[in-house]
Amino acid sequence: MILDIINKKRLGEELSYKELDYFFNGYLNGDIPDYQMSSLLMAICINGMTDEEIFSLTKIFIDSGDVLDFSDIPGIKVDKHSTGGIGDKTTLVIAPIVAACGVPVIKMSGRGLGYTGGTIDKLESIKGYRVDLSDEEIIKQVHDINIVVTGQTADLVPIDKVIYALRDVTATVSSIPLIASSIMSKKIAGGADKILIDIKVGNGALLQTEADALKLKELMIKIGEFYGKEVRCIISDMDTPLGFAVGNSLEVNEAIAVLKNQEKENNFVNLCYELASNMVSMGLEITLDEARKKVKNVLEDGSAYNKFVELVKYQGGDIDSIKVSEKSKNIKALKTGKISEINALEVGKLSLALGAGKISINDKIDYTVGVELKKLVGDSVKKGDVLATIYYNKSIPDYNVDDMFKIV
Ligand code: URA
Repeated sequence: MILDIINKKRLGEELSYKELDYFFNGYLNGDIPDYQMSSLLMAICINGMTDEEIFSLTKIFIDSGDVLDFSDIPGIKVDKHSTGGIGDKTTLVIAPIVAACGVPVIKMSGRGLGYTGGTIDKLESIKGYRVDLSDEEIIKQVHDINIVVTGQTADLVPIDKVIYALRDVTATVSSIPLIASSIMSKKIAGGADKILIDIKVGNGALLQTEADALKLKELMIKIGEFYGKEVRCIISDMDTPLGFAVGNSLEVNEAIAVLKNQEKENNFVNLCYELASNMVSMGLEITLDEARKKVKNVLEDGSAYNKFVELVKYQGGDIDSIKVSEKSKNIKALKTGKISEINALEVGKLSLALGAGKISINDKIDYTVGVELKKLVGDSVKKGDVLATIYYNKSIPDYNVDDMFKIV
């Protein structure tokens, strides 16, 4: 049976629900070894999956664990997911904005993966902030303050955990059907009424081309339709880091500056506006233009920032505790010209090597380190101008300015 299934997929044939269920649950239970699961994943990666297979796989993933139900909480619960990026701290900004606009926000976020940081790691740079709320605590908190941002509580989609770890080490992460079932199963099991997906494209993202992003978008919308859930997707650039900061405390500080309405327009601020407006439009069932006005208002009148302060306090965090390392070094421009590119992947690699993320499972994250860009794409610079500041504790890893910044 195992070899028949692998062979069938190798030949590009369609697998039935029963065959997929047997294989994936067999792997979860330890009956199918890594090498055979890897072989099937690679065959899926190469030959793709039919819509029917993707719907089956998504259901198998959802049914492998708990399914949360927040239907007692009034209002439409809109969840947002990003496929992962460098400097992506959008949740920290949009969750309070959306809650301040009156849409209940229950956000269960994850930790960093590879070069990309996770919202939960970022929040842990705030001393005392709890990311392990129980289901009861979540429900009470949403009733009290309309917002929760915590780690995953229940045992949601355990198959995804084991499959994702295997995909990570078998070059099968970028399979579009596998990404679609992985993300959509978690959002559906997490109890969302509507789902907004931020699909990243570029050198710092899982997907490298717009065409692949469009395929993923179409597929996630179809899975949403299958489950009766509205899904919207935004395709956003990940060739360039988002905003100025990459690294946990630095990113929280940048998110606070945006919430205080202190930041001018840039790629990060614009993306926050776009995502928050879509969530508000979905949650309140109003037009995107009406939602944009609400988002602007809560940023200008301080209620979005106040909601963030309320959230941090309620979850036990001390907002004054956010610390950035006192040791720093500037990266300077090697020539005069205009910045045409800031390579997201290179900045992500440097931040990871400084200790902002984990290279191996037992590493401890250093919340105080990272890279802060001082210039953005399109800025003119003179030789010797500061392009970025590195915040470090132990030592500064090797890096190449030309790999990070293209000046023309
Ligand atoms: N994010 C996920 O949760 N799963 C994927 O497969 C890719 C990105």
